[in-house]
Amino acid sequence: MKKDDILNVFNFRHACKEFNPDKKINDEDFNFIMETARLSPSSFGIEPWEFLIVQNPQIREKLKAYTWGGQKQFPTCSHLVVCLVKKSCFMRYDSDYVKYFMRDIQKNNDEMIKLRSAFLKKFQESDFALLDNDRTLFDWSCKQTYIALGNMMTSAAMIGIDSCPIEGFQKKEVEEVLAQACNVDLEKYGISYMVTFGYRINPQKTKTRQEAKDILHWV
Ligand SMILES: Cc1cc2nc3c(=O)[nH]c(=O)nc-3n(C[C@H](O)[C@H](O)[C@H](O)COP(=O)(O)O)c2cc1C
Repeated sequence: MKKDDILNVFNFRHACKEFNPDKKINDEDFNFIMETARLSPSSFGIEPWEFLIVQNPQIREKLKAYTWGGQKQFPTCSHLVVCLVKKSCFMRYDSDYVKYFMRDIQKNNDEMIKLRSAFLKKFQESDFALLDNDRTLFDWSCKQTYIALGNMMTSAAMIGIDSCPIEGFQKKEVEEVLAQACNVDLEKYGISYMVTFGYRINPQKTKTRQEAKDILHWV
């Protein structure tokens, strides 16, 4: 791919406020987008995410009631993805999940697990001081889910699919809906963002960005 083509993709991607309700993303394209989420990097590779794909119109309607930032997107998008974030019971360095992950997913041997766990302990306890409270650890996990968000939106744009990231919602109320309507265990999971995908119905607005000279500082 040429650099100009790549920049065209970045200019094509915009926060699409309303989608064509009659145009649906096919399974192959949607799976491609989600594959780029799955392949995203995360700190220590622990993948603090799971994704709920909300296609049920009644559940979308319930979520919409608490999502001021998605009023036109929710009823018109082809696919609505909710990013669930693993809480401290998974993400603490000494959890069973981290042990399982290092052993069964990352295929580390016992010696490597000991070494990596010690690094993770130091990182969480002191380097980044993530264990002061559950919120700090949760926010650290959330940060990583945004890498998957960026990748999903870019990969969608690469195949001509529009998206809108959504953080404009009442977190507590939305989590309650997810618990009641989707059986999400709020002891274990929280939400970081939602993201809608589909095909634009209106032309996109002119992009506004600061000049490179105002944000790049060479030292
Ligand atoms: C994390 C995040 C959350 C956002 N939440 C919303 C939202 O709730 N509703 C919305 O319409 N746009 C939302 N946006 C879109 C931004 O307003 C938009 O990306 C920004 O204004 C730049 O415009 P562009 O993406 O069209 O280039 C969000 C963007 C990000 C990155």
